[in-house]
Amino acid sequence: MHTRFRAAIALSVLILTPLAARSQDTIPYVPSPMHAVHRMLEVAEIQKGDILYDMGSGDGRIVIEAAKKYGIRGVGIDLNAELVAKARENAANEGVSHLVEFRAQDGLTVDISEATVVTLYMFKWFNNALRPKLQKLKTGSRIVAHDFDIDDWKPTRVEHVSPPKDDPADYAESPTLYIWKIGETPAAQ
Ligand SMILES: C[S@@+](CC[C@H](N)C(=O)[O-])C[C@H]1O[C@@H](n2cnc3c(N)ncnc32)[C@H](O)[C@@H]1O
Repeated sequence: MHTRFRAAIALSVLILTPLAARSQDTIPYVPSPMHAVHRMLEVAEIQKGDILYDMGSGDGRIVIEAAKKYGIRGVGIDLNAELVAKARENAANEGVSHLVEFRAQDGLTVDISEATVVTLYMFKWFNNALRPKLQKLKTGSRIVAHDFDIDDWKPTRVEHVSPPKDDPADYAESPTLYIWKIGETPAAQ
């Protein structure tokens, strides 16, 4: 199932990438695989007191995992009200409702200025449009984008996530993570 989702998004990327920076193609719900979620949170170097925003939060997995594993506050924003309801239900089931908030909103209209970590699994056009807000985040804030980077903004570093050792067959593709640290110059690549 998961592979089929990834194939669908890969196909839409191939077809839509030339247009993606110009048009606002609908961004589908494709959950990040859990091993990618774990790595996204690790590379974000989460510390006590961080506030994480996941833009396009789907079933809430990134925000919920951050609350469970690191005990930090998080906000998930998604256009799809049904997914927001599902994320709230998942948070309640995982016992982290007191740490997280899910809102049905267009991510581009949201004030993200309190965020110290922002995660993205969104098309480039969305990431590009969010960039002015990302660049205004406090010094030291981290942005982790899954598979889609940001035009003309060199990441602090890039990482290819290995498939999980116990389940390599279901993860033929290796997610790429783009990481920016506000105020830090990218390493030479
Ligand atoms: C590829 S999924 C990523 C889900 C989750 N972040 C993850 O990594 O598992 C993208 C999500 O963005 C939502 N979305 C699309 N356009 C949006 C927008 N303008 N503002 C907020 N959410 C949006 C979709 O409904 C979908 O749930």
